[in-house]
Amino acid sequence: MYTSALASSLLILVSTTSALSLLPRTDSCPKVWSTVLPELQIAFAGCGRDAHGAIRAPFHDCINNGCDGSLILTDECSRAESAGLSDICGKLLSWTQKYNTSAADMIEFAAAVAISSCPLGPRVRALVGRKDSREAAPLNSIPGSRDSISSILDKFKAKGFSGDDVVALMGTHSVAVQVNDDPAQAGKSLDSTPSIYDLKFYQETLDGTAPYTLQSDRGLANNTETQKKWKEFADGDTSAWITAFTDAWNRFAVIGNDVGSLQDCSGIIPSGASERRLAKRLGSSAAARAFVRRLYDS
Ligand code: HEM
Ligand SMILES: *[C@@H]1O[C@H](CO)[C@@H](O)[C@H](O)[C@H]1NC(C)=O
Ligand SMILES: *[C@@H]1O[C@H](CO)[C@@H](O)[C@H](O)[C@H]1NC(C)=O
Repeated sequence: MYTSALASSLLILVSTTSALSLLPRTDSCPKVWSTVLPELQIAFAGCGRDAHGAIRAPFHDCINNGCDGSLILTDECSRAESAGLSDICGKLLSWTQKYNTSAADMIEFAAAVAISSCPLGPRVRALVGRKDSREAAPLNSIPGSRDSISSILDKFKAKGFSGDDVVALMGTHSVAVQVNDDPAQAGKSLDSTPSIYDLKFYQETLDGTAPYTLQSDRGLANNTETQKKWKEFADGDTSAWITAFTDAWNRFAVIGNDVGSLQDCSGIIPSGASERRLAKRLGSSAAARAFVRRLYDS
């Protein structure tokens, strides 16, 4: 009886394991990434400008012709549509050369480290093994802040991302400062806490109390397809956002790549989210949430 129960749970384990063979290999993270890590952590400490840029770079590398490094290997980064990224592109390229990695991997690994360097930043997967391309994406294939919401959503849909995914990914604008969207207001952040990866961005965008709001974010906050999710995150449903964000991010970071051929380096990135663990331990009561929020928002 006991043995057969054990045998059947082993069977479940074995079949689950083989079902997981579509996932990347976790056994072998190339050693170079442990060498890269500390330099990135120093650059991103405090969740400032470089961290913000590193979190934005995957958007511009991946949404057009896949996560292939072409953002920094071609003229893509110097285009008007990538305004604001030139400093971080230069740094990502120099790290790529210094450590002899693929540019596409450097962009994604750096973003994962940057997210973990921002207080409250969720833990995303860090896969490596992408192939680089020196072919630039067509011009204007990145959604712009003054595009219509339907054209923005269409560009994401073309890559397999729903309206809900887009709303979740936009949480990155919680750690954002605009300089080029309206140069007359350069330096204004997209929420009141640009060095904390919190959900205030959604609420302040909705309320109109953010220091600066992109037209696209205002539109997503009140578009019929996206407003429900936006409101849910604005209302502070942190665990729903973490689940939605990490799921969307993990798919975004491998656009155009064969996931089964990648290797998993997630394990070497320390979890920046110790406060999330604290929140988990304290439970999900309103009082516990308020306590953790006070602790980290001050
Ligand atoms: C609807 C799609 C999106 C639009 C129209 C958009 C537009 C913008 C604009 C105009 C800025 C300000 C840049 C500047 O003035 O220097 C910005 C900043 C930023 N975006 Fe987005 N974005 C979108 C989606 C995303 C996604 C998917 C990510 C992450 C993968 C992302 C991450 C960031 C970050 C982190 C910043 C702050 C950069 C900094 O402070 O230097 N954005 N975005
Ligand atoms: C850099 O990496 C490439 C491909 O992974 C390899 O062929 C080359 O020998 C490496 N160069 C150095 C200097 O290590
Ligand atoms: C919705 O967003 C659009 C786009 O920015 C804006 O013009 C409009 O005033 C907003 N409508 C409401 C009801 O907030």
